[in-house]
Amino acid sequence: MIGIIDSGIGGGSVLREILKQGINANFIYYSDSKNNPYGDKSNDEVYSIVKNIVNFLLEKGCVAIVIACNTASAMCVKRLREEYPDTLFIAIEPAYKMVHDYNPKGKTLVMATKGTLESEKFLALFNKYDNNRTILLPCSGLAELIEEGNEVKIDRYLDDNLSRYKDIDNVVLGCTHYPLIKDNIRKVLGDIKFFDGSLGVSKELVRQLEFRGITFDDNSYSVEFIDSSRDASKERRFGELLNID
Ligand code: DGL
Repeated sequence: MIGIIDSGIGGGSVLREILKQGINANFIYYSDSKNNPYGDKSNDEVYSIVKNIVNFLLEKGCVAIVIACNTASAMCVKRLREEYPDTLFIAIEPAYKMVHDYNPKGKTLVMATKGTLESEKFLALFNKYDNNRTILLPCSGLAELIEEGNEVKIDRYLDDNLSRYKDIDNVVLGCTHYPLIKDNIRKVLGDIKFFDGSLGVSKELVRQLEFRGITFDDNSYSVEFIDSSRDASKERRFGELLNID
């Protein structure tokens, strides 16, 4: 069994890519919408929330845990790996290296939570690949609007916050909720290149499972969805996002 954690349904954008890799495992997806947003909380707060979820997933029998939340990864994964040395943690990060690999000269906007952009982990990545044409934009409140699923509010938010960046070439979607609103972002910024970490993290999961010789006997995958606020609409939207029941 493989556990997936996010502060809501956004990590579905990561699970979507993982399923494309053909891993026939039982997945248990923990949507912590009760504690959303993580992005404005302190490292210690997020760590104690995520640690409880990790303990729950380990009790359920997970052999690997994917942190499908850039904020939780940035704030917690180092500490988690120290505290749980026997557990395989795969952690997403904003795909800023991909910009360096695929379109390094382009003017780049990194959209992420405040917590991610201020983290040591992200700043190390940024300083390594900085193309000197990059704007870091903390998008406080955006993940909540995406959780809520209110298109009008999302469009208004993007209009208010992105309109001044019409000359951008690359957009790094540094929060797993943001790939769900690519079309809305395009409405404001036009024809831009998107970069997000879900493919990288999915491939890393495959690599690590192979490296550790972890296999699953199942002929097909299954997904169990748990939402901490027990909001039934989340499960429905999550199913639509993955295109499964
Ligand atoms: N989905 C999350 C991320 O990737 C976090 C959103 C939040 O809870 O602030 O950063």
